[in-house]
Amino acid sequence: MKFFIDTANLAQIKEAQDLGVLDGVTTNPSLMAKEGITGDDNVMAHYKAICDLVDDNVSAEVIATDFEGMIEEGERLAAIDKKIVVKVPMIADGVKALKYFSKKGIRTNCTLVFSAGQALLAAKAGATYVSPFLGRLDDISTDGLQLIEDIRLIYDNYGFETQILSASVRHPMHIIECAKIGSDVMTGPLSAIKALLKHPLTDIGLQQFLADHAKAAATVK
Ligand code: G3P
Repeated sequence: MKFFIDTANLAQIKEAQDLGVLDGVTTNPSLMAKEGITGDDNVMAHYKAICDLVDDNVSAEVIATDFEGMIEEGERLAAIDKKIVVKVPMIADGVKALKYFSKKGIRTNCTLVFSAGQALLAAKAGATYVSPFLGRLDDISTDGLQLIEDIRLIYDNYGFETQILSASVRHPMHIIECAKIGSDVMTGPLSAIKALLKHPLTDIGLQQFLADHAKAAATVK
């Protein structure tokens, strides 16, 4: 399973990249705003800075919601760097844009997906990635992981090549459950990725190993 980090924060992206487990980055307009990135030139420069930190797969979201606007913006984003994946919302013009980009060989990520039917449409339009938002479904007492399972079943039934990018991941158990289901990718915050490291028995065991080693070394002297 690929690991993407869901942030526009350069320090956090670098930390995840340095850990050696990062396969990409997802951003959205809210995450860009959180970093105070506004204005077309600054946004473009920030995407380039993210691309320079990672090996591949930087999702950059269009703001336009009409077909022509999404095409114009998406082509500009794709021209920033080969690593850019154009992120398009799940609306009718977005589906048309997915088809257009797919024919042009521009990779896409269909975002704001909350149902299996939407995921089916994204796959038929040739999306590279589909982003079901599992945390936001959990937030409204709907089983987000069930949606990931349903999409996995549908895509496998027909051999769709669209990759399931489980988004809106909030904690380490989401990551583990996504991996059990067979999600192709997960995107989440740095805190969820780092939480996978943690186990109290690891800390206790390491302390014991180091103490035993120090005791033995003292005895030899
Ligand atoms: O980037 C899209 C998605 O991952 C958003 O997550 O936590 O805002 O629901 P969240």
